[in-house]
Amino acid sequence: MSGGSDGTRRQKRLPEGSALQNLPDCSPGESGKALEAMRMEVFVEAMTPPGPVHLQELEQKALAEGVPIIRPQTQNLIRFFLAMKRPARILEIGTAVGFSALFMQYCAPADCRITTIEKDSERAAKARSNFIRYGRKNTCGEAEDIVLLEGDAAQVLGEIREDSSFDMIFMDAAKGQYIRFLPDAVRLLSPGGIMITDNILQEGEILSSRFAVTRRNRTIHARMRAYLHALMEEDQLETLLLPTGDGAAVSLKNSRLARESCAPDAG
Ligand SMILES: C[S@@+](CC[C@H](N)C(=O)[O-])C[C@H]1O[C@@H](n2cnc3c(N)ncnc32)[C@H](O)[C@@H]1O
Repeated sequence: MSGGSDGTRRQKRLPEGSALQNLPDCSPGESGKALEAMRMEVFVEAMTPPGPVHLQELEQKALAEGVPIIRPQTQNLIRFFLAMKRPARILEIGTAVGFSALFMQYCAPADCRITTIEKDSERAAKARSNFIRYGRKNTCGEAEDIVLLEGDAAQVLGEIREDSSFDMIFMDAAKGQYIRFLPDAVRLLSPGGIMITDNILQEGEILSSRFAVTRRNRTIHARMRAYLHALMEEDQLETLLLPTGDGAAVSLKNSRLARESCAPDAG
């Protein structure tokens, strides 16, 4: 992506003088590992060219208001897969105030259509006005559509009847609900389509046994583990788990044939 809808070129976000240089060196042991992870995050962020100015503005505003939005590492991941897949249709689950939908619109091909689902009506209203203010404009200067479906994705997904029509799905809603969304997400994903699930590591907690997790977080821990198992065992998906950002799963649909041809008794 060398330029965007506003015609700007991405500038380099130089690590020089960045927070990276102010981080102390790692020492061995657990705290050293945490620090290493933090240094890695700061490094990746520093090396990532910033997006266009209008999206930086929205990003800062969302962060200042405490609205959770995709981190720079996830932005990189999404940008990469958008460049690779060049999807015609994207489905997002979890709009918040629309930052990631607008980011995807900015990076995706000009004719890509985006549908996004949000259950919080206040956030949905903010997202709609952000789509008008920050969204891509057509040649007449009108904001191009991002379709926002308001409601609980568990229900809304079931009402979308366009099977196999989304080339990319971005799952970024309540982590404990992913397992409920999965059957519809698989149904809606096109063959060869890619689904990205964000925040699978739950700030590292997913690596711990359930006994090491605080009682408060046990349900979500169990549901995320169940979701990851379901992803790995889903016949129609081939899934890669990545430690990028807060962890992401990248699933490719329709690898059944590939699996069969990999089996030892395949001809
Ligand atoms: C992490 S935020 C999404 C951030 C957004 N993708 C971005 O990066 O700009 C998760 C959003 O999912 C919404 N959400 C949670 N559970 C949901 C559900 N069952 N159906 C629809 N939206 C849901 C929340 O209200 C919240 O706004």
